[in-house]
Amino acid sequence: MKDEEVRELLYQALETELGGTQVYKTALRCVVNDDLKKEWEEYLEQTKNHVRIVENVFSRLGLDTETETPGRLVVRHIGESLVKAMEMALDAGKPEAAQLVAAECVVLAETKDHLNWELIGEVAKKAKGEKGSALKEAHKEVEDEEDEHLYHTTGWTRELWIEALGMPAVLPPPEEEKEVKTAIGAARAKLARKDML
Ligand SMILES: [Fe+2]
Repeated sequence: MKDEEVRELLYQALETELGGTQVYKTALRCVVNDDLKKEWEEYLEQTKNHVRIVENVFSRLGLDTETETPGRLVVRHIGESLVKAMEMALDAGKPEAAQLVAAECVVLAETKDHLNWELIGEVAKKAKGEKGSALKEAHKEVEDEEDEHLYHTTGWTRELWIEALGMPAVLPPPEEEKEVKTAIGAARAKLARKDML
């Protein structure tokens, strides 16, 4: 395994979680639906905890949380851009549209977050010693939450868009009702939406 790339993945993972807290804070300024607000409040708290979990991995592996890499700067730039995109939508003064923008931004941020943790899980399987146990423990703690963050918000985004288009929507989305935690589960929930209308 390439140690330098594993470190790069961890720097990006930390930056993604830090950016994620800003994305959720801004998304909560855009939210209109009460159920989605509750969901995102919970996800914000979980994301703050993910920051702590990654910081703990850094201290166990002797890594510096302040280390900057070109890849980490890109992740920060994308996070800041997502915040800016939501602020643009807020300024336009259409709450429902701003909520949709926020949902899309959360999905974009969580797509990267989900990928990071999937990769950390792969590294954890191969890594030995302290590195192996630190990564395995962290991965086990966040895995299910990351699945929910991505799949449930994707469902919210689709259904809120369907509602905005003037068609019958399933709200909260089937992904949430069925407590989806896998990609295949998300696909099944999406297929089942017709029966839930
Ligand atoms: Fe996370």
